[in-house]
Amino acid sequence: MKLNKQDILKALETISAPGEGKNMVESGAVKNVVTFADEVIVDITINNPSLQAKKKTEVEIMKTIHDLVYEKAKITVNVKVDAPTKPAPNVIKGKQIPGIQNIIAVASGKGGVGKSTVTANLAVTLSKMGFKVGVLDADIYGPSVPMMFQVENEKPLAVNIEGKSKMKPVENYGVKILSIGFFTQPNQAVVWRGPMAAKALNQMIFDAHWGELDFMLIDLPPGTGDIHLSIMQSLPITGAVVVSTPQNVALADAKKGVAMFQQESINVPVLGIIENMAYFTPEELPENKYYIFGREGAKHLAEDLNVPFLGDIPLVQSIREAGDVGRPAALQTATPLEEAFETLTQQVVQEVVKRNTNLPPTEAIKITTMAGCSAVKK
Ligand SMILES: Nc1ncnc2c1ncn2[C@@H]1O[C@H](COP(=O)(O)OP(=O)(O)OP(=O)(O)O)[C@@H](O)[C@H]1O
Ligand SMILES: [Mg+2]
Repeated sequence: MKLNKQDILKALETISAPGEGKNMVESGAVKNVVTFADEVIVDITINNPSLQAKKKTEVEIMKTIHDLVYEKAKITVNVKVDAPTKPAPNVIKGKQIPGIQNIIAVASGKGGVGKSTVTANLAVTLSKMGFKVGVLDADIYGPSVPMMFQVENEKPLAVNIEGKSKMKPVENYGVKILSIGFFTQPNQAVVWRGPMAAKALNQMIFDAHWGELDFMLIDLPPGTGDIHLSIMQSLPITGAVVVSTPQNVALADAKKGVAMFQQESINVPVLGIIENMAYFTPEELPENKYYIFGREGAKHLAEDLNVPFLGDIPLVQSIREAGDVGRPAALQTATPLEEAFETLTQQVVQEVVKRNTNLPPTEAIKITTMAGCSAVKK
């Protein structure tokens, strides 16, 4: 079979270009097509620098040529990323945060699925791995990080840094913590609007003396509302992780959570989905697994949405107890839970590294290789 360029171009005209109402050929994305015998090479340029977008384009081109031109064609697709010259919208504010390398938002959609628990355990595990870590509790409805770190009775002190008064985060288990809970009265219901919450959070980031951090984790309130929009738009978030249980109601909300980050005005890369309460294991029968909320729902959701699946955490009584006494479960050494949180944390770090390698670099993001990670270890 001898392929020809015209047939290939005609086939590529059936693929639409993202967001332009034009096809891939009209939009100028197809830079070159070379054919010889049953082989074809397509050079293409896309704007979306994510690995997923690259892969998707490649697969779409191959499938189209196989379906419409010749099913046995040997196809090479060279995808070049023409990264936008404008900075990515998630760093538009121009406010780089000196000393803070990566900001990771932990979100869910549905409440009570374990965002704060996951945040606390990720934080202590990162710290054990040698990273410098901060947690910003942005849950204006029910800040629970102070309790999970047993610092609910502490208050951040003011320190003088180069003539300016700054808030000094409270510290425990090697993790620096600021929470909206430090500034509200216990049992006081506070009504916040998005911009107000974003302003308070901005202060906790920009008017605080965090020092050098490899990772700042932001524990978000549940939902996908106005407050989230304000927060996302005003902070240079490196990426988001979405926590869900395997249950359908939680998954539906997690889906909205992912969609929120991916919408154009927010455009925060989704690092992946974590399945919490994946199954119940009684402490005395660790081999027994009961899938009480359904099985692998969050994993399947990640596959459907084409975002990474970061791992699962079982529903274990000691996780809840550890949270309540203010000593995250991952601190207990040589336990299956410590291992589970380590595996999960490594996945998160790996996705951050990938994100920093594949997306346009920003000053807020410095780690670009795993080797780079060890370079910043204490
Ligand atoms: N894997 C787990 N095993 C056992 N208990 C868990 C697990 N994950 C979370 N919990 C418990 O479930 C409850 C809710 O968890 P958590 O507060 O972390 O959820 P959240 O998503 O932050 O909630 P909110 O939406 O209210 O902020 C807590 O009591 C916590 O200890
Ligand atoms: Mg919470």
